[in-house]
Amino acid sequence: MSDLQNTQDDVKAENRIFPPPAEFAASAAISGMDAYHALCKEAEQDYEGFWGRLAKENLTWHKPFESVLNESNVPFYRWFEDGLLNASYNCLDVNLQNGNAEKVALIFEADDGTVTKVTYRELHAKVCQFANGLKSLGIVKGDRVVIYMPMSVEGVVAMQACARIGATHSVVFGGFSAKSLQERIVDVGAVAVITADEQVRGGKHLPLKSIVDEAIAMGDCEKVRNVVIYRRTGGQIGFTAGRDLWMHELVANQAAECEPEWVDAEHPLFILYTSGSTGKPKGVQHSTGGYLLWAKLTMKWTFDIKPDDVFWCTADIGWVTGHSYIAYGPLAMGATEIVFEGVPTYPNAGRFWSMIEKHKATIFYTAPTAIRSLIKASDADPAVHPAKYDISSLRLLGSVGEPINPEAWMWYHRNVGQERCPIVDTFWQTETGGHMMTPLPGATPLVPGSCTLPLPGIMAAIVDETGNDLPNGQGGILVVKRPWPSMIRTIWGDPERFKKSYFPEEFGGKLYLAGDGAIRNKDTAYFTITGRIDDVLNVSGHRMGTMEIESALVANPLVAEAAVVGKPDDTTGEAICAFVVLKGARPTGDEAKKIATELRNWVAKEIGPIAKPKEIRFGDNLPKTRSGKIMRRLLRVLAKGEAITQDVSTLENPAILEQLKQAQ
Ligand code: WT7
Repeated sequence: MSDLQNTQDDVKAENRIFPPPAEFAASAAISGMDAYHALCKEAEQDYEGFWGRLAKENLTWHKPFESVLNESNVPFYRWFEDGLLNASYNCLDVNLQNGNAEKVALIFEADDGTVTKVTYRELHAKVCQFANGLKSLGIVKGDRVVIYMPMSVEGVVAMQACARIGATHSVVFGGFSAKSLQERIVDVGAVAVITADEQVRGGKHLPLKSIVDEAIAMGDCEKVRNVVIYRRTGGQIGFTAGRDLWMHELVANQAAECEPEWVDAEHPLFILYTSGSTGKPKGVQHSTGGYLLWAKLTMKWTFDIKPDDVFWCTADIGWVTGHSYIAYGPLAMGATEIVFEGVPTYPNAGRFWSMIEKHKATIFYTAPTAIRSLIKASDADPAVHPAKYDISSLRLLGSVGEPINPEAWMWYHRNVGQERCPIVDTFWQTETGGHMMTPLPGATPLVPGSCTLPLPGIMAAIVDETGNDLPNGQGGILVVKRPWPSMIRTIWGDPERFKKSYFPEEFGGKLYLAGDGAIRNKDTAYFTITGRIDDVLNVSGHRMGTMEIESALVANPLVAEAAVVGKPDDTTGEAICAFVVLKGARPTGDEAKKIATELRNWVAKEIGPIAKPKEIRFGDNLPKTRSGKIMRRLLRVLAKGEAITQDVSTLENPAILEQLKQAQ
């Protein structure tokens, strides 16, 4: 294993501790560990009182709630259910009333460096006009709208406009293929799709509208009445009369005021698809009230956001991070934030640092995979090293999406944080809506590689296979013992799968299972995530189900059987390694290379380029037990290139292991 990977030994040996700088702590929202413990204690002593207080203090309610938590139908918890509010009102109108109207909400930087600034007043008008446009298409509260857009002001506007009229949005990441998009349009029952002609990333134009056309042409999308197109590049697109409309034409004559649709706190704000351990992605359904409360509150607690901050989350709006920390949380806080269209390596790998310099960003939130690739890039070319830029505006750094290995953490701390900025390593998931475990920058002493402690009100614990608590120092299964406001409400259209996936009966039906393993340090009780315990991979911070990739592979006419496992990777954290049995003879040499390329492109078409296997190995068969079960643990060892030292006595066909050692 290379030095860029976390190892169990690293974790055990990690004894560097970085207390919060006194100056930072002095003005922090939660200052010092006593303040943290006091909040935890408040939650423990009066759970509903704690959450009720926060929801009253942080959100503007059209009709106040009386019921804080309804637990009558476990695990379908209901928060603030008799309260009425609107998420867009809380993000926009509230800021017009509290003196933020002329404050810049969004600093948008296009791929080519062009900057557009949008104030709260302007954003409010844009959202209202688009909301009125959507209403003119007959879109009403409860309808689902798919958003397949580039990183743009219009992407944020589209999400906020849906929220304004009570339509539930489902954003699909622009890197997903037509087939993945079609599956999501069908599953969610979308009445409209909002897209752009093209997206621009790293100087390249990539089609979006034509992928939407392809997706709809695949069938079962009859519910889609309209496709609304944001004109980004003016590139050539097909136009279906009666169905397709330009966004600028739709908003042209619309009023800049739109009365928000007041919805129950439990009304689904959005559905976001994510990978699980079966072939079919799960539509994670989030609420309005509980979700927004946590998106806002974690901006305060974790990011310690202040009125003068310039916040930059580099995630895409297609992932949950882009929902909570671009589209909702920062706006609910009245913050100024950067929205970036491009990629970190264009025009060169100094792009992030030059943008921090240009916009005087104060809080920077990115993924370990980006940090690792920028470490490599600046090793190769010192001109793009952060030291070459004036990034002294930074005061806080964040990490998200996957474990950050201590060496990458130290580089981030020294070179980006200038040994001055705290780093918040935020552990959470699509299902949790917002941060679950993270250091508080003005309180928690940092340990590289550890997400430290749960936020107040989050009852995280580590248990064994029977649901019993494990002592610190012993690795086990990460669970959350009590419901929390921003948790997943259900899997869209599949409540049974929701129960089975997250609240399994084996654990009594009341523990939320995160799907991760974790261990707590014996002395500090800090948590370190040890990785997924299900068949889910984390590639560049993107979640991929091994079964999804396997189903894509076996859908290819050449393929008889496939098994996918993860293998450690220096840059992407994990890489996808596929073991494939063809219907015909096992290919070798150039033939094998040719088919491997074909299969990679096939997976890119079936799911999206992010799911392309890095390695494909062909065998006459897969290692199986006598009962025919694939022995994945052996495949994991082979993928790593290590020798098999485990017991193979139950293996039916040991000779196969030799064949599968070779990568193509
Ligand atoms: C999975 C969730 C968090 C939003 C973006 C990804 C892993 C996430 C961390 C972290 C270690 C992390 C977990 C989790 N993960 N953050 N700070 N340290 N692991 O959301 O696609 O739902 O993936 O990402 O394995 O279960 P997601």
